[in-house]
Amino acid sequence: MNKENPIKREGFATSLGVIAATLGSAVGLGNIWKFPYMTGENGGAAFILLYLGATLLVGLPIMISEFIIGRRAQKAAVGAYRKLAPDKPWFLTGLAGVLAAILIMSFYTNVAGWVFAYAFKAATGGIAINSPESAKEVFDSLAGGVWEPLVWQWITLVLTGTVILAGVRGGIERMTKTLLPILFVLLIAYDIRALTLPGAAQGLEFLFKPDFSKITELTVLLALGLAFFKLSVGVGTMTTYGSYIGQGESLPGTALKVMFSDILVSIMAGLAIFPAVFAFGFAPESGPPLLFFTIPMVFNAMPLGQFFLAVFFILTSIAATGAMISLLEVPVAYLHEELRFSRRIATIISVLVIAALGSTATLSGSALAEFTILGRNMFDLQDFLSSNVLMPIGGIFIALFAGWKLGSRVIFDEATNQGTLNNNSFLAVYTFIVRYVAPVAIVVVLLYGLGIIKA
Ligand code: PFF
Repeated sequence: MNKENPIKREGFATSLGVIAATLGSAVGLGNIWKFPYMTGENGGAAFILLYLGATLLVGLPIMISEFIIGRRAQKAAVGAYRKLAPDKPWFLTGLAGVLAAILIMSFYTNVAGWVFAYAFKAATGGIAINSPESAKEVFDSLAGGVWEPLVWQWITLVLTGTVILAGVRGGIERMTKTLLPILFVLLIAYDIRALTLPGAAQGLEFLFKPDFSKITELTVLLALGLAFFKLSVGVGTMTTYGSYIGQGESLPGTALKVMFSDILVSIMAGLAIFPAVFAFGFAPESGPPLLFFTIPMVFNAMPLGQFFLAVFFILTSIAATGAMISLLEVPVAYLHEELRFSRRIATIISVLVIAALGSTATLSGSALAEFTILGRNMFDLQDFLSSNVLMPIGGIFIALFAGWKLGSRVIFDEATNQGTLNNNSFLAVYTFIVRYVAPVAIVVVLLYGLGIIKA
């Protein structure tokens, strides 16, 4: 232990553990809930193309940058900047990330609560649905309630806090390593089921045939925001995880694998949902409830439907938990490593703050339905501010820090493991992107998307 960092740090034990944990952060409600409903709201294939472009040009390079910063510093988000750039205000990037992580957790735990509730209800035979209307009623009665969604939200928070307290290796790694592959295999089975529904072809067309007429400046910003949200970048999560990655692992290789697998899971979720949207006559623009309308209908008419429905939501709960663990880790690591709280107290404080703020998201389906700021209810506001403002701004500074401040020697050492990996051309492209392309692209998309500059 060096003097500067007397707190004992654990790391991920194996390469598989690294992939599982980072993928466990990336794969979550973003794939199964957010990607489908945003694709539905923003016109389908054209939006997906924008999202893929944003992922390659911005999301991936920023993920690599966060890994480099975290592993180099051996510190979590805020401390990493303090260590690598003492006396400079770069640590504000880390602090903005702590704020973004708390905002995301606020509404994310609301949605995760719905998913947990569906898992429980399906497992106990409580989702009796026989028509698209009844599917809507089941969701509305849950999300429009007061205590029921709140209690489910708190359950997700307590569970996440418990895993965090079990420590990095014991908690995060074990959970994600075992369960992600199961989710993956089952999604294939669910796709087959959805694709054999009558009317499935229309869903496929929506997913794969681009129509650019729906694209506006705001859509481009939304696609960029989704790219950040999906890969868990711009918040400090991947910086923190980077600090746990062993010296022998390839950082660009890890990031590439995570990106490809993550995209695949989103597409597979889209393939399970869009055939059902059209087969059962739901509006693709249904918004956040889309998943909860469609999936119960997919399983409705089949043998063992309730069983498969329960399994689907249990797996989605697990995927959401992996992401929530990584989000909660951001404020916990900050309070623990920077402010010297014990991990237990850091976890309790973070959970309480998120529970308080998160209840405003959850109650925007009922008691706070009429309460809006900037024309958005609290749920939408937290979602919009985090994905479409804070994460992109965080991304700009992460890219600038990696591209201009760290120095090419550090980048070379971390990206090639002291010259032992041969990826020079990749490195050249990466450096060019983080120096110029990513920061400029994010600034332009933000300015136009937020309407600060008009075309
Ligand atoms: N990537 C997660 C998902 O798609 O569900 C959400 C997320 C996790 C966003 C961690 C940001 C983050 F730091």
